[in-house]
Amino acid sequence: MEFEEVYKKERATRKFTNRKVMERLLTKIVKEAQQSPSLLNSQPWRAYAVTGESLENIKKEFKENIDNKVDPKEDFASMLSLDWDTFPSQNMAVMGASQTYFFSNRINLFAEANAEMFNAPAIIYLTIPKKSPAWSVFDLGIFAQSIMLIAINNGLSVMPAHSLVSYPDIVRKYAGISENESVGMAIAIGYKDNNAEVNDDKFIPDRVPFEKIFKLSK
Ligand SMILES: Cc1cc2nc3c(=O)[nH]c(=O)nc-3n(C[C@H](O)[C@H](O)[C@H](O)COP(=O)(O)O)c2cc1C
Repeated sequence: MEFEEVYKKERATRKFTNRKVMERLLTKIVKEAQQSPSLLNSQPWRAYAVTGESLENIKKEFKENIDNKVDPKEDFASMLSLDWDTFPSQNMAVMGASQTYFFSNRINLFAEANAEMFNAPAIIYLTIPKKSPAWSVFDLGIFAQSIMLIAINNGLSVMPAHSLVSYPDIVRKYAGISENESVGMAIAIGYKDNNAEVNDDKFIPDRVPFEKIFKLSK
């Protein structure tokens, strides 16, 4: 696939079909993503791909927690500051919360998709050691982006979501992740359900006016 096409296709996919992703393909994607740059080649990331029965167990236990209104306890939230500066706060308010998506009862569509873990046939959980500098979070982001672009190039769709790591202990149990690692983020991977309303292009959010984020000095 042409790079531009791959990049354009990088959109949140909130409902996948039931089609499975082959283990061989998942492995190949992560292996290729290993070429990502990192500070001093520290490669702080680890990737845990989960499918089948283990994923079903994670989905079941997450659902129980959501139904019982158990507060999310994300590892990054306890590790990093949750204070947002005005600029991203405004972006979230204007570009996120005020979209048609989140209004007119659409919030249910969004919440259900998250609670069902997007019907994902495979999830790649991404970790860094609990003892990490901010650089490692940056490196993990690059690694995640590589995984997503490579997956799309292989005909898959992706869904990066922090809701997938709301209950890290459940993920730890079924993915075999040690206590020393922060379950930072997760990327759901599969084949896009083109008939699902939640995936409709009308819900693709706008971006901040370019001049607000770019300045060229010479
Ligand atoms: C770190 C991160 C966490 C995210 N968490 C969620 C999430 O929990 N639930 C969700 O529905 N979308 C989540 N998203 C998707 C964003 O809402 C989405 O990327 C953004 O609104 C832009 O939309 P687009 O990717 O379709 O262009 C997350 C994206 C990132 C990068």
